[in-house]
Amino acid sequence: MTGRGKFITLEGIDGAGKSTHLAWLVDFLRSRGRTVVQTREPGGTPLGEKLRELLLSEPMHLETEALLMFAARREHLERVIWPALERGDWVVCDRFTDASFAYQGGGRGLSHDKIQQLENWVQGGFQPDLTLLFDLPVEIAMQRIAGAARQLDRFEQEQRDFHERVRAAYLDRARQMPERVKVIDARMNCARIQNELENIFSTY
Ligand code: TMP
Repeated sequence: MTGRGKFITLEGIDGAGKSTHLAWLVDFLRSRGRTVVQTREPGGTPLGEKLRELLLSEPMHLETEALLMFAARREHLERVIWPALERGDWVVCDRFTDASFAYQGGGRGLSHDKIQQLENWVQGGFQPDLTLLFDLPVEIAMQRIAGAARQLDRFEQEQRDFHERVRAAYLDRARQMPERVKVIDARMNCARIQNELENIFSTY
């Protein structure tokens, strides 16, 4: 695709602080002259946002959960992500398929093979150009979540061992795909993280 934009995803366990860094990153890229579409998963389309509400609140079978994540993703790719990239825009997305491998795979124990099948079906070989994995010890992340002045969602309410499995699955993917997935130590202060992000994007 000539002039195709870049697809950047941000990942991490709940409480890793990626939303704060996402806002900074979008401003940073815009200041460098990029046209940026900021979006999120599950969500990013009217239907996807409805599915998100269900996914974050309604108890369901783990395979239903995976299917709904990928249903929302199909809609998102078709209506938002692919058209934006075709226009030459950059897309910065708060979570994508690595989250399905980490949460539905690592966290819930759904087989890698089933998730892989869904991935092949829904996105073919399409992958992010770059994934920023904000990594943080679960203990610190859980303290941050506990301090949030709002109702916790179905994933945030999970026990520590769930989040440990999610973190391990994310780190595993970073080890398997080091070119695409960059691990950022989310214990660092904002200024250092921003510095690291600037370095990463200096080659883009
Ligand atoms: P957020 O709080 O970062 O917006 O994400 C919502 C939750 O959805 C988060 O706890 C992780 C979860 N999630 C999955 O379990 N699988 C997925 O494929 C995605 C995109 C998110």
